[in-house]
Amino acid sequence: MSKILIKNGLVIGVDRQEIQDILIQDELIVNISAYIDPPDNAAIIDASGKWIFPGVIDPHTHMGIPIKSGHSADTFASGTRSALHGGVTTILDFSVLESGQSLDESLNQRIKLAGESLCDVGIHVNITRFEPEILVEIPKLIEQGFNSFKVFTTYAEANMMLTYAQIETVAGIIAQHDGVLMVHSEDNDVITRASEPYADRSESHPRLHGLSRPAEAELVAISHLGEISSRTNCSIYIVHLNTAAGLAKAAEYPMLRVETCPHYLLLSDKMYEREDGQMFVSSPPLRTESDSKALWQGIQHGQVHTIGSDHCPFCLADKPQNTPFQDIPNGMGGVETLFPTLLAQFIERGLDLGLLVRLTSGNAASIFRLDHLKGSIKLGLHADLLIVDPELPVQGWEKSLDTNLDWNAYVGLPALFPETVIQRGVVVVSEGRVKYPSPGKILKSKSTSQE
Ligand code: URP
Ligand code: ZN
Ligand code: ZN
Repeated sequence: MSKILIKNGLVIGVDRQEIQDILIQDELIVNISAYIDPPDNAAIIDASGKWIFPGVIDPHTHMGIPIKSGHSADTFASGTRSALHGGVTTILDFSVLESGQSLDESLNQRIKLAGESLCDVGIHVNITRFEPEILVEIPKLIEQGFNSFKVFTTYAEANMMLTYAQIETVAGIIAQHDGVLMVHSEDNDVITRASEPYADRSESHPRLHGLSRPAEAELVAISHLGEISSRTNCSIYIVHLNTAAGLAKAAEYPMLRVETCPHYLLLSDKMYEREDGQMFVSSPPLRTESDSKALWQGIQHGQVHTIGSDHCPFCLADKPQNTPFQDIPNGMGGVETLFPTLLAQFIERGLDLGLLVRLTSGNAASIFRLDHLKGSIKLGLHADLLIVDPELPVQGWEKSLDTNLDWNAYVGLPALFPETVIQRGVVVVSEGRVKYPSPGKILKSKSTSQE
């Protein structure tokens, strides 16, 4: 039986922050008190002057997903190793539905790939075909502990899109079984219209990627999805929300949940003007500084529920300069810097660290029904903990990244990395480096009968 006693750390909860001792036994937190006597054989970690956060849940990653010309550049092994370095102890990734596959087959294929992960992994189930045989699988998968399903309102050319009417049918089924519908929310007709001027490829600058997927695409999609959520009573989770208009619209609908990403908070469409502008091509595109300001306000007003990285990285060679924007692989890396950059921003902006906990662990755990395992520092939950030294430097971090990638979008921004990361009771990061990684687990959501 392994025991770790963390002494005198400032425990950052959603509603309060208190100096406490935390006792870990095997995988679980077994005691939290103002003073705990060191048990025999316990390893002691002195956390005086340090902050303790719950392990981060990144609700949106794409490890090694197939694209036209290969795969996104992180495997589950490399991506989860870098996740741990940045304090992410759980990722929620997505299955990929190949032609002829059932949802169950696609899910099991993804679970197999995720077997090499070094942090815990949940899988959202992608629904990119609308067929009766697919729809009947939804209740069965929810019953088995896979309660979140993702659909797309665009990518018709890649045969991934569902129409709004089809999405409403899916939402109705998911609502009946208390699942969550996640939606990539960019209206396909708006994108088709806005892309027309660039169809002859005479112009191909990365900034045109943004113009071909305008903010209006998000507004139109969210307006439809809001109405669908009201009619079906389905909890709809808008992934990677990125515009002021989309946020304001989403706030009108109580059944919508909103995720944004660090790239929409910390970067802007000005990045497309850089020499390496092609590296910032992702979908949805980066937006204006005023959109990012609105997202920060939304965070403070409780209109944003989670922050996910949408980790889908590519190396420099994967995105050569002067490639027409239509051919640039979409996506950026972000799992490793997700929490460290946000923490530095919260400190700089004087924002409540309890809110940061809600956005980076607590809310994702409750939305995706993982709060019987994770999401806060509580008795009986997994001992997924970060110890942060607030005195550590917030610059120069790019030299110590734990990644195979040769490019990072956030270089130059402040980031405060955890000194120690504990994953289900195992110290996996020590002195800021991944030293003792241990295998991750596949997670299942809590059924409604467990509540
Ligand atoms: O450009 C991105 N974000 N690629 C990943 C897939 C998606 O749409 O989230
Ligand atoms: Zn997406
Ligand atoms: Zn994504």
